Amino acid sequence: MAAPILLDYLKQLEKQGVTHVGIDDHARSVLRELYTRGSARRPAETHTVKPSQRSQSDSIVAQGNTAAEKIASLATIAETWQPARALGSLRDTMVFSAGNPEADFMLVGEAPGFQEEQKREPFVGPAGEKLNQILKAMGLAREKVYISNVCKFRPATRNQTTNNRKPSPEEMATSLPFVKAEIDIVKPSVIVALGGSAAQGLLVSDKPVGQLRESWHQFQGIPLRVTYHPSYLLRQEDGPGEKRKVWEDMLAIMEKLGLPVSEKQRGYFKA
Ligand code: URA
Repeated sequence: MAAPILLDYLKQLEKQGVTHVGIDDHARSVLRELYTRGSARRPAETHTVKPSQRSQSDSIVAQGNTAAEKIASLATIAETWQPARALGSLRDTMVFSAGNPEADFMLVGEAPGFQEEQKREPFVGPAGEKLNQILKAMGLAREKVYISNVCKFRPATRNQTTNNRKPSPEEMATSLPFVKAEIDIVKPSVIVALGGSAAQGLLVSDKPVGQLRESWHQFQGIPLRVTYHPSYLLRQEDGPGEKRKVWEDMLAIMEKLGLPVSEKQRGYFKA
């Protein structure tokens, strides 16, 4: 069915009081194809949103009573998540999240790498060690915060061994419904996007981290800060410059979270 006819048909149903229409996988893939080709009519975009960056299912319903049970149920759904599998560019092992499902502070990274895939836990390799150091400097234990990724599967490469790559916007979009559902469950007071991919995946912006940091954004009504990825810090040879920038972002987050900030902490990584 051509897109305008489909829209007219849906409008007719709406007039008849129908509020929900079920679609099967085939219909969903036809619609996605129409959308990506730009054939479907859509409202004017207010900022840079590529069709491929839209999530492929707007909400996932978690089961369970407690936050921990609900997160566990999301992880079970993610294990066999067809939109991610269908891309054929992500590996099969799903890595969901770590930490406290009732945390005040949620950190969102990019995607699992080699070590994360082995241990099935986000941020357990060198970037994870750097992240743990940052958290420690903030006076926070890793177990007290909630750690997730904007892509739940390690992006695949040809002849892959320990090498990793960044997830594409399409790849991130397949996991975005989970991140949104996680936020609804955890209800953090503050979210931090670690690095450009996480920022791009959440804010659907192609601006670099340098332009997105130092101000507050909103994601699902929650204050969100953008900072550099811990692995970016690992690549910086000398000097406190970039570390200080990340630290200033963390100081802003600590203040927002109402955490105590000592004079010593305020001065970390100053040149
Ligand atoms: N980098 C990320 O962004 N996430 C991980 O889980 C590991 C490395």
